Amino acid sequence: MVMRAALHNLGCKVNAYETEAMQELLEGKGYQIVPFHSVADVYIINTCSVTNMADRKSRQMIHRARKQNPNAVIVAAGCYVQALENSGSQEESIDIVIGNNKKKDLIEILDNYLEEHPEKQVREVIDIHHTKEYEYLHLSKTGEHTRAYLKVQDGCNQFCTYCIIPYTRGRVRSRNKMDVVNEVKILAENGYKEIVLTGIHLSSYGIDFKEDGVQKEDLLSLIQAVHEVEGIERIRLGSLEPRIVTEEFARALSQMPKVCAHFHLSLQSGCDATLKRMNRRYDAAEYEEKCQILRKYFHSPALTTDVIVGFAGETEEEFEESKAFVDRINFYETHIFKYSKRQGTKAAGMPGQVEEQEKTRRSNIMLEMNKEKQRQYEEIWMGQDVEVLFEEIILRDGIRYAVGHTKEYLRIMVPCKDTEDCEWLNQLKVVSLIDNSQIIH
Ligand code: F3S
Repeated sequence: MVMRAALHNLGCKVNAYETEAMQELLEGKGYQIVPFHSVADVYIINTCSVTNMADRKSRQMIHRARKQNPNAVIVAAGCYVQALENSGSQEESIDIVIGNNKKKDLIEILDNYLEEHPEKQVREVIDIHHTKEYEYLHLSKTGEHTRAYLKVQDGCNQFCTYCIIPYTRGRVRSRNKMDVVNEVKILAENGYKEIVLTGIHLSSYGIDFKEDGVQKEDLLSLIQAVHEVEGIERIRLGSLEPRIVTEEFARALSQMPKVCAHFHLSLQSGCDATLKRMNRRYDAAEYEEKCQILRKYFHSPALTTDVIVGFAGETEEEFEESKAFVDRINFYETHIFKYSKRQGTKAAGMPGQVEEQEKTRRSNIMLEMNKEKQRQYEEIWMGQDVEVLFEEIILRDGIRYAVGHTKEYLRIMVPCKDTEDCEWLNQLKVVSLIDNSQIIH
């Protein structure tokens, strides 16, 4: 009998990579992959615990799976169950708990479980301890057709006071450079043109590769190696720590034509006092300097960021300071998050917690500003020719459009005049930007 498996991912791109890699393992073993809302024999939920809301969603998906098929084997992997087990609690609906470091053993774990417990549901917990070793999972295809997100690093040593991730993911572990390159080659052979390098703390790539106290690899050397792979046309970088941006780093990146001028530099706050309470390792002046360096080496790069409003102790003055800073930097896109207390972190116990209503007010102000900044950035590109990697065809008001992204991640649509335009899929084409209506948000 062919076993049916359904997977659901929650959380970040790293988790998504791992979910897709687990799907490939299941396919390789002959499982039939079915949608999560249908009846399956095995459900895999790759959980997230970044906020209390993420915990809730993880729980919901576990319960939904159990409801869909009370006799199925429910496997919950990743950060939520990792944090839950560490706190000594349990989720009734789960049959197998898999820690972040054991996802690669999914097939073996399932085989053993099915052999040992063919009839009844028995709870098993598979290694929720952290290791110092990088866990090797592999991908040859993803849900997308042109762009592949690639996990190159795991864990974090930063311990920002609001973040649970160092506790759920453990310390920094990097993936072997040749292993990354080999996977990029396979993805290129399978038609992928764009690679997005991701990690839990990407900037730390290689800090664990030391010989006699000397670091042997770093993110730059990894990007250079990926840049050599034929067939790959674009390399996009996941979230970066501002500190990694130096003159040398930016210059070297600018000399690699495949590197996209799209940099996500995590900010969190533009106020030094708030940054300090967050245990971020830079101040606003340093951050600004890094943006200037990137703007020196790239033509109108898209700088994007994350900002938390209403962090513990954030006064009105601090918020104003943060807002003025965000205003000054002129980001293309700012992802705004209302601070949400995460049990088990230092910030959850800090004084001066901000009322929900006030967080919403601050968030709305930032959202408005973001809209205007986005418009201003897009305006820069009007009248210019841009290179677009076309990814999909969409239908709008009865008209078909080819849609893709520029290197700066502007999402562009072009009407398909004839069937020929549809052959643009997975192709790089130069498009003249005339007005805003060509951009999709
Ligand atoms: Fe969530 Fe774990 Fe990623 S907490 S955001 S899945 S590292």
